[in-house]
Amino acid sequence: MSKSSNSSRTKASAKRGYFISFEGGEGAGKTVQIKRLRDKLYEAGHDVVLLREPGGTPISEQIREVVLSAKNIGIAYTTEVLLFQAARAQLYREIVLPSLESGKTVVIDRTRDSSVVYQGIVRGFGEELIEQLNNISTENTFPNLTFLLDVPPEIGLERRRKEEGEGAKKMDRLDMEAVNFHEKVRQAYLDVAKRDTRDRWRVIDSSRTIEEIEKDIWSEIEKQGIC
Ligand code: TYD
Repeated sequence: MSKSSNSSRTKASAKRGYFISFEGGEGAGKTVQIKRLRDKLYEAGHDVVLLREPGGTPISEQIREVVLSAKNIGIAYTTEVLLFQAARAQLYREIVLPSLESGKTVVIDRTRDSSVVYQGIVRGFGEELIEQLNNISTENTFPNLTFLLDVPPEIGLERRRKEEGEGAKKMDRLDMEAVNFHEKVRQAYLDVAKRDTRDRWRVIDSSRTIEEIEKDIWSEIEKQGIC
């Protein structure tokens, strides 16, 4: 059901906007799907704000540089936890919350659940602590809908390698360690999505083609009455 651009854009600004997040491990294809969804939502008349974490404001992008830079190999896990939260707090205060309040549709590449999975579960800080920090940094905000793009790590890492132009290569010891880490990430995401207390998680089989994944995401958007 697509509406004419002008009427739905005006309508969207009258009420709180819709908040959609994407989560998943390496090579799950979040970037391409997020861009396609942004374009389709825009065509359907939504005023769309596209964001990523960590990042999205000048201050949060500076924090991103610190937390993700390969130079900062000595970063303590606690520092990492707090930097992700600091970047998030700035992004929500400056962009996410005002955008939602003015009726915009916010689509975000990773948010609070990334911290739950990577820092809370995989690094072992605990989900409860991370959710407390998440509640502070997001001012108790949750996405309305969260797409988990789920892919076996072998496929995800292979896609990444191909993207980097290295072509297929045999797994070495370090790659295997990476697979183990990414398998933990995958399982943690699936567990969190299963416990879904707000009926916001949708697990999408992302080992399929871009078009198949896109179709599933869009049919969920329509089912929710977002478009
Ligand atoms: P990025 O280059 O944006 O990768 P991706 O394409 O996988 O999203 O890197 C973000 C990395 O930061 C990714 O490995 C996940 C990690 N991360 C956390 O560990 N905790 C967080 O709260 C967030 C937002 C990201």
